[in-house]
Amino acid sequence: MSSYPIGFFDSGIGGITLWKKITSLLPNENTIYISDKKNCPYGEKSKKEIDEISIYNSRFLIDRNCKIIVVACNTATTNSISKLRRKFKVPFIGIEPAIKPAALNSKTKKVGVLATKGTLTSNLFFKTSSDQIADVELINTYGEGLIELIEKGDCENELNVLLKKYLIPMIDYGIDQLVLGCTHYPLIKDSIKNIVGEGINVVDCNDAVAMQTKRILELNNLIQNNKLDSPNHCFFNSGEDDFSIKEILQNKYEIFKFE
Ligand code: DGL
Repeated sequence: MSSYPIGFFDSGIGGITLWKKITSLLPNENTIYISDKKNCPYGEKSKKEIDEISIYNSRFLIDRNCKIIVVACNTATTNSISKLRRKFKVPFIGIEPAIKPAALNSKTKKVGVLATKGTLTSNLFFKTSSDQIADVELINTYGEGLIELIEKGDCENELNVLLKKYLIPMIDYGIDQLVLGCTHYPLIKDSIKNIVGEGINVVDCNDAVAMQTKRILELNNLIQNNKLDSPNHCFFNSGEDDFSIKEILQNKYEIFKFE
């Protein structure tokens, strides 16, 4: 079973940021990635819709023998991962805003969180934020419109206008940590850093999630130890023929249609 692929899904190219971390940490693993652009953005959908989409994507990956599934999306994780774990036998790895490390490192005791509406209104986010950070104030901001621009690509100016609208109030409020609570946002980390400057630490947890994926594979004896000359990476897209995903993967892989 160790040669079976690791499955990933996200509403588009955001989860590729996590896919890259995991495939560089675990270079022998075969993978299958779903870019579910047809349903993008997940963050605007109801919990019921996010559950249904997450179940549909997971079933597709399990039908293709995935040995573990990485929910490469904060919105799908915070809304649906417990349901997925109850429904399917394979292990699931999720990603959620890294508020705990940010809170621990905050000197001003003010932490900004930029995420989707779906993440910020989820029960899991509510629980994690109330459990872990009694003495820290969270300034949660919903990044409306960012995902669409990131998926479209080539929208530097519009992106900067929106980013300033969301980030400047948090900067003025005195945050010293900014949590990127969406896997799309590391793709625009440079623009974010340009706006927030040196004094604010920009936090994402892709490295920690990659390590956790490795740990869970090891624990389940599922690590692919045979060195593969070229592991098999398979990409599916449910939306329009997509240049942004091809670009981000440097045109190295064929993208298959996902219905
Ligand atoms: N990458 C997804 C996340 O981490 C984007 C969600 C969306 O499509 O709104 O939340």
